[in-house]
Amino acid sequence: MLTGVNRNRQVKGYICMHFCEVPETMAHALVNSDEKGLKPIQVPDNVAKTIYLLARLASPKKILEIGTLGGYSTLWLARALEEDGKLITLECVEKHACVARENVAFAGKEDQIEIRQGLASDLLAQMIEKDEGPFDVIFLDADKNRYPEYLEPCLRLSRPGTLILSDNLIPKRGEIGQPDPRDNEAVEIYTYNQMLKDHPLLETVLLTTLVGEEGRIDALGVSRVK
Ligand SMILES: C[S@@+](CC[C@H](N)C(=O)[O-])C[C@H]1O[C@@H](n2cnc3c(N)ncnc32)[C@H](O)[C@@H]1O
Repeated sequence: MLTGVNRNRQVKGYICMHFCEVPETMAHALVNSDEKGLKPIQVPDNVAKTIYLLARLASPKKILEIGTLGGYSTLWLARALEEDGKLITLECVEKHACVARENVAFAGKEDQIEIRQGLASDLLAQMIEKDEGPFDVIFLDADKNRYPEYLEPCLRLSRPGTLILSDNLIPKRGEIGQPDPRDNEAVEIYTYNQMLKDHPLLETVLLTTLVGEEGRIDALGVSRVK
């Protein structure tokens, strides 16, 4: 019997093969992103399908994504929108935003998806200022060391019942729950987890996910605004 890492890899492969068929437009987004030189750091197919289904359960008319890359998760989330729904996604790297625009155009989703380029902290502040909330679903998948900073803006763009999904809540390295103080990203991720746990306006669970070639155990934060 396989144990540990090999078994995780097999479980991830099994789930992806049987439950995560990738629609053509999303597959195209991956190929085009690769051809344009983007790093393959998008959510794996099992996580893509999970965020899509969780979002779908919320019947969203408005989705906010923080961290676009080439728009792979964007296209999955947009699939969960109600017919007249809209998704806004935030990305700081111009090249990523350009490739994502190409991928969104190929999918024929320009009417539903708006890609805003800039630092998430600035763009979120502008959205609050312009009263662009509340969003039904928010997916956080940008710079992990700033997750704690993004929580309050996300809450200000929420309403009771908003679903907040936060990717990669188990750091790649270090003792679980006890990050090396020199590993800033891990420290901030655990700080964020504690904020989710303690926040009076949130109920949260971390849903384990298998990521990377080897099926490393990670977690997706699933939070509901009270
Ligand atoms: C993990 S990738 C997003 C992957 C994407 N959600 C997917 O699964 O297809 C993270 C993205 O966040 C962007 N990013 C990082 N820091 C950011 C910031 N401060 N503001 C906006 N975007 C940022 C990066 O440029 C990168 O494209």
